[in-house]
Amino acid sequence: MSAYAQLLDAAIQDLEARKAGGQRFVVVAPDTLGALAAPVPRVRPVEAPATVARSRPAPAAPVSVPAAAPAPARAPLFPSVRPVAPAVVVTPAAQPPAGPAVDQSAAFAELRTRVLACLKCPHLVTSRQSVVFGVGDPHAQLMFVGEAPGADEDRQGEPFVGAAGQLLTKIITAMGQTRQSVYIANVLKCRPDKPPGEFGNRKPTPDEMATCLPYLLEQIQLIQPQIIVALGGIAVEGLFGIPDAQITRRRGNWMDFRGTPVMPTFHPSFVLRREAELADKGRAIKRQVWEDMLQVMERLALPISEKQRGFFK
Ligand code: URA
Repeated sequence: MSAYAQLLDAAIQDLEARKAGGQRFVVVAPDTLGALAAPVPRVRPVEAPATVARSRPAPAAPVSVPAAAPAPARAPLFPSVRPVAPAVVVTPAAQPPAGPAVDQSAAFAELRTRVLACLKCPHLVTSRQSVVFGVGDPHAQLMFVGEAPGADEDRQGEPFVGAAGQLLTKIITAMGQTRQSVYIANVLKCRPDKPPGEFGNRKPTPDEMATCLPYLLEQIQLIQPQIIVALGGIAVEGLFGIPDAQITRRRGNWMDFRGTPVMPTFHPSFVLRREAELADKGRAIKRQVWEDMLQVMERLALPISEKQRGFFK
């Protein structure tokens, strides 16, 4: 049976199980509905950066992106369904930049459409509320990469909007940046599922991360950030395909991801957990994260005040 037929079977089984359990409707994001109603486009692999018009010089080495398998032609699943109102909030599409970078913008929009309609992991297709693509400036010089959406992100369709996200936003602001001036994405675009009745988050499996990684590679290839901050050991594991990142040992030490410098640091959730546990309210860990960010700011030649240098000392 083809992968497509397996996915279709999984979706039908899930819907039948929900119906048998008394469920009368399912919540579908407008973007997903639109993607389901449209014929599947034949996907071309994204071209090498040399062909992508850029508004600034492209410093990073090209990231090789595996060619997507040709998608099977299919009839629309729900051709007559029209959403009355958005069922969930979805990440706003990137605004097309002024000037010549139209090709990059079109390629980014095409990638986003493809990712929002992804069916590669049947178990996540049936459990997710949203595909969490990413947010921020598609031309950002600084990119943050986390592990996977949590419950809040799944609901809102935007990365890092829960408690950890609020801390990340504070860190970004302390750097003199905004969520709109950087780019934020995750290794995994769907929330890792949990058995019914179980709460909390689950770590993405190596298989899930390897399946989703090509999307992140394409995002990096198109954004061409000057620096990537990897948030936590799982982000390092997913990006570099290594089994145990040992983030405590690795943080603060530059890594290289196919020509782009990567600064590994602690995940904001870890900082929040330590803050709750420690008498000094996690000040030492916050200082470590902040020292990592000072290195990033120095490398990007961002202005740093004396006050900023002294945070959490
Ligand atoms: N943790 C992550 O790694 N990513 C999110 O988007 C939210 C929490």
